[in-house]
Amino acid sequence: MDYFEVTNERHSTRAYKNQSVEPEKLQKILEAANRAPSAGNLQAYEIYLVTDAKHKIALVESAYDQEFLAQAPIVLVFCAHAARSVGKYGKRGADLYCVQDATIACTFAMLAATALGLSTVWVGAFDEDEVRRVIGASQAHRPVAMLPIGYAAEAAHLKPRRRLNDLVHQVQS
Ligand SMILES: Cc1cc2nc3c(=O)[nH]c(=O)nc-3n(C[C@H](O)[C@H](O)[C@H](O)COP(=O)(O)O)c2cc1C
Repeated sequence: MDYFEVTNERHSTRAYKNQSVEPEKLQKILEAANRAPSAGNLQAYEIYLVTDAKHKIALVESAYDQEFLAQAPIVLVFCAHAARSVGKYGKRGADLYCVQDATIACTFAMLAATALGLSTVWVGAFDEDEVRRVIGASQAHRPVAMLPIGYAAEAAHLKPRRRLNDLVHQVQS
């Protein structure tokens, strides 16, 4: 798939087959995330890899019963790590850049998964403290996105988007 096929075909999947993800595919996904840009190249985020049933079931509870988190063979939890950014960028690093770093890395992982024939859904609705407890992260790591990854067990459904002339605002010269 070329880049535009990947972005056009990516869609949220909320039902996964009981089929594991090949380790080499997971490796490629993690390497893609690691290529994401970050403020000052500080990579102010951490990735937690969750694969066992007990922790995935606990993540379901922390995410208000989003059951598909337990179906997917892999859940990546992207956490902002403010301390890595605050030294260089102060409050902007702590409040914004570390969150952006984590979310861009998650986006790279999501698109890499699509390119490899896998499915995902971005999960942002969860109790941060609960997720932190489940993955064993310290207060320094703020969970900002979870990404279940696996093989889809439901038909693809591409949702409509806003029209570009509504979304894009030409700034007049
Ligand atoms: C910041 C963010 C938070 C989201 N949180 C959730 C979530 O908690 N649960 C869920 O099922 N989908 C979640 N989504 C997925 C969106 O619902 C989905 O991307 C959107 O409806 C567009 O559909 P598509 O991904 O199929 O194009 C989230 C997406 C984003 C970007």
